[in-house]
Amino acid sequence: MAFHKVKMVVDREYRIGQVDERIYGSFIEHLGRAVYDGIYCPEHASADENGFREDVKELIRELNVPIIRYPGGNFVSNFYWEDSVGPLQERPRRLELAWRSMEENKVGLNEFTKWTRSAGSDVMMAVNLGTRGIADACNLLEYCNHPGSSKYSDLRISHGYKEPHKIKTWCLGNEMDGPWQIGHKTMEEYGRLAEETARAMKLIDPDIELVSCGSSSLTMPTFPDWEAMTLWHTYDYVDYISMHQYYGNRDGDSQDFLACSDDMDQFIRTVIATCDFVKARKRGKKDIKISFDEWNVWYHSNTADDDITKNHPWQVAPPMLEDIYNFEDALLVGLMLITLLKHADRVKMACLAQLVNVIAPIMTEAGGGRAWRQTIFYPFMHASKYGRGTALLPVISTPKFDTSSHEDVTAIEAVSVYNEALDEVTIFAVNRDLKNDAEMTVDVRSFEGYRILEHVVLESDDLLAVNGPFGEKVAPKQASQSSLDGGVMTSILHKASWNVIRLGK
Ligand code: AHR
Repeated sequence: MAFHKVKMVVDREYRIGQVDERIYGSFIEHLGRAVYDGIYCPEHASADENGFREDVKELIRELNVPIIRYPGGNFVSNFYWEDSVGPLQERPRRLELAWRSMEENKVGLNEFTKWTRSAGSDVMMAVNLGTRGIADACNLLEYCNHPGSSKYSDLRISHGYKEPHKIKTWCLGNEMDGPWQIGHKTMEEYGRLAEETARAMKLIDPDIELVSCGSSSLTMPTFPDWEAMTLWHTYDYVDYISMHQYYGNRDGDSQDFLACSDDMDQFIRTVIATCDFVKARKRGKKDIKISFDEWNVWYHSNTADDDITKNHPWQVAPPMLEDIYNFEDALLVGLMLITLLKHADRVKMACLAQLVNVIAPIMTEAGGGRAWRQTIFYPFMHASKYGRGTALLPVISTPKFDTSSHEDVTAIEAVSVYNEALDEVTIFAVNRDLKNDAEMTVDVRSFEGYRILEHVVLESDDLLAVNGPFGEKVAPKQASQSSLDGGVMTSILHKASWNVIRLGK
């Protein structure tokens, strides 16, 4: 076993940009047990007067999630928002086409908005540009944001919500490039529809921010023409373009799996380049920012989900996309978080997809049992808690290796965030080499007088270790493998480990 020697410089003047706290957003779709039997379960002992589980909300608060995307996802492309508001007994049961489930509309946009705010978060609302269009997007916005004395704002008031919801961030559809999407569009069709929808929505509420749909993944055949063509239409009216990416270790090659964050990095670079190309062609002034509003590991549940959609459709809240995450998934989630932070100047929103029960950091036992934390809960919690402030350029010299489908993979991936308000700097580092530990020396001279507050590690001998309702095999622990002397910190980063090293006064 070799012992890697790694060097890093953390300097308060080497700035990438301000971290927008909304990169620690998440996502709740009307899918599987995310809403029903997830956040909402009137029968549960911890349910509040509206039927929402307090224990789940408490775990969400631990993650400190500033924004939650809603109601989909693929679900939104046939969502009739009017079905989800008004008196409960009048709400219809609808065939939900994206996942072939039964939607009972017991929780709708008013209840969700109220719940989200009570969880200390904000709503990122998506409009249906699959089976619907400009008029319905405008009506929904009028219902949510207009103060009153108009058809839809008065309807909201009649439903008991006098104050407008003031939802600031709106997604113009979801994954419209994907052939699986209900109402899938070509790039020309989507570009024009999104442009006209955006223009109309901004007439209703000029303060909203709009997200234009980008590609559903790096491997979509229309990427990056989709971004170039659709932004050509939407550039003047939108503020963000969306990115989505999921990974899975389908062939059991863990070392190669952990290199996937390099693809994510390349994906982000290409989208930035494409946005800047459109800006130049438009002779534009503004930079289009990125909303990476779906990212995670997703593959464990694929076969079971296919069986449900094909052979057992129209169930209410079936157990779908219930990936049970292992330790290596947590490492990749950590690497993806580091990648987002390395692009803090352009990635201004991001949503871990999703939040509860559906490819989620938080799970609940079926039928209203316990709530528990998956392995991926921890890197997300650490980044959300300590990754606020200014992202600093990672100047790192590290060994590299090739994997089965990636070249020049760095052994150590790291980034640091300087929290000016707290006068703390935190280094997030993953040793993604599965065989070799590393000794990392970090030049922190620009943080004179700082000391190590803690070094927290997530590690396991078993890459496939999972957590469950009865216990956590994968949980963070305090480590004593960092020391600081004369402005140089030395840390041991064990093979296959997620490290959070905090310095302060
Ligand atoms: O998050 C699960 C699904 O992944 C979403 O509904 C869709 O947008 C994406 O394909």
